[in-house]
Amino acid sequence: MKAPRIVVLAGSSRRDALSRRLAAACVAPLQAAGAEVDLLELSDYPAPLYNGDLEAESGLPEAIMQLQQILYACDGLLVVNPEYNGSITPLLKNTLDWCSRPNPADRERSGGAVYAGRAAAVVGSSPGGLGGMRALFHVRDILGYLGMQVIPQQLAVGNAGSAIGDDGMLRDESQRKVLDKLATALADTARRLRC
Ligand SMILES: Cc1cc2nc3c(=O)[nH]c(=O)nc-3n(C[C@H](O)[C@H](O)[C@H](O)COP(=O)(O)O)c2cc1C
Repeated sequence: MKAPRIVVLAGSSRRDALSRRLAAACVAPLQAAGAEVDLLELSDYPAPLYNGDLEAESGLPEAIMQLQQILYACDGLLVVNPEYNGSITPLLKNTLDWCSRPNPADRERSGGAVYAGRAAAVVGSSPGGLGGMRALFHVRDILGYLGMQVIPQQLAVGNAGSAIGDDGMLRDESQRKVLDKLATALADTARRLRC
């Protein structure tokens, strides 16, 4: 059985983003669970704010077509979410929306097909105490609507500015255990669904 391929990305492209640091900390637990991991930066896939006129006139942005290929080839997705007013970041929503659009030149590997039937997990990070917990319920809904199977395990890391040590791992042992369990569940679900 082949190793499940898991894409990890953060919902922020900010230089010092807490969510990007936490996304990087998710890589080793997933690899330990037997997954092959692609850690992506959304800043590498820039796209204008979605507008149907833009799509009709110019089609999908090149970067979005590239991202669609990567998502299509993956078996699972782990998203680390900052919380904006209790919800998803506009960057993440815009990227998910663009990728949900069909590419007329490659209908099989674009649009809903890049999400359908794949496993997903949500993690939150915030400088506040709740760790972006409220956003996770919204992102769960959105990924589920896109046809992904979102696993029940989740982790919300509060006070995220000090949560990650110099070794790039979560400092708190109980959080590390939750992340390990989440990584194992995500890899197992991706394997069961797709490998
Ligand atoms: C528009 C906006 C709304 C925010 N709303 C929340 C919020 O609802 N809950 C929260 O914990 N932090 C909120 N924050 C603070 C972010 O958690 C903080 O800026 C965080 O560092 C952003 O994520 P990043 O470090 O991954 O870029 C908000 C920030 C912005 C810019």
